[in-house]
Amino acid sequence: VPIAAPNVSDCAIASKGIHNIKDAVRGVACCPPVLTLNSPKNYVFPKETAVRIRPAAQRASDDYIDKYKAAIKAMRDLPDDHPHSFKQQAKIHCAYCNGSYTQKESGKEYEHLTLQIHNSWLFFPFHRWYLYFYERILGKLIDDPTFAIPYWNWDNPTGMIIPDLFEKPIQVRERKENPVFDAYRDARHLPPALVDIDYNGEDRGVSCIDQITINLSAMYKQMISNASDPTSFFGGRYVAGMDHDDKNSHGTPSVGSIEAGCHTAVHRWVADPRMPNNEDMGNFYSAGYDPIFYAHHANVDRMWKIWKELGIRGHREPTDKDWLDASYVFYDENEELVRVYNRDCVDLNKLNYDYETSRIPWARNRP
Ligand code: C2O
Repeated sequence: VPIAAPNVSDCAIASKGIHNIKDAVRGVACCPPVLTLNSPKNYVFPKETAVRIRPAAQRASDDYIDKYKAAIKAMRDLPDDHPHSFKQQAKIHCAYCNGSYTQKESGKEYEHLTLQIHNSWLFFPFHRWYLYFYERILGKLIDDPTFAIPYWNWDNPTGMIIPDLFEKPIQVRERKENPVFDAYRDARHLPPALVDIDYNGEDRGVSCIDQITINLSAMYKQMISNASDPTSFFGGRYVAGMDHDDKNSHGTPSVGSIEAGCHTAVHRWVADPRMPNNEDMGNFYSAGYDPIFYAHHANVDRMWKIWKELGIRGHREPTDKDWLDASYVFYDENEELVRVYNRDCVDLNKLNYDYETSRIPWARNRP
């Protein structure tokens, strides 16, 4: 039976994985507002023609940056209980990762089991849908149906620092604050520090050239040598009845190469180690509060697209019905509660967005 997120009215205070969180500066009440008691509708793709092209953050134009910041500012200006508000968007991550939802709809016997979409084959599709609605909401807030979020191009040497726009003051005149700045980042890793996408908690203190080599070979491993089939890339089977915390007979899922590798490394590298729970990027419950989270995940999502485009045999999505039929619930840009399925996020043409091209030097970087 596939995992299905229940209706938002069946949401509870986050518990799993944050029992040990002390001084949760971002709070653990992660449920979305309940605007309707109706069950979510199955999502229908809107008819539109213009494709949203996500730019590489390090090459984004000043005009684009102004637009992006204006959109985030508008999101921050919404009241907290609005489903499109900055906080509610951040809480989505906490709700799906820290046990606010149970596997209820899948059948009574799983009622007590909570949902945790990480460390499993739900990692890529869940985040793809999450970003999809986040992007559409931002576009709606600035009345731009072609708006696309930026991606943090950390797999290319030209993008291996925190993109300037997240740290520099806002370009738009007469506003002082940068709405995509976040105070909870590791001060040692601000520009011009080179990202370590193989970070394990310790700075290496190597030269830039060596760090670039380390990064490119990590990419090669996670995209090619250690990702030769759907399970090693996407992560392992996770269906109703399985529990990450409960090593019972149903088993626990395995984690995919990108999720375990550069994805987690970048989260930890950005996170502020002085914060009690490594806020923001270093903890599931708080990661969505750093605007860079969405740029980071856009590049993670781009890796899915590129992995397939490498055209290597075995590079395809899972075909198991329990993967295709797994579903989540989101508020769309019209504040409609909708249910979306993994099967509908495989084809980027349907989702109507794409990525600005950037070279992938790691593809020839066989270590
Ligand atoms: Cu949902 Cu980068 O984690």
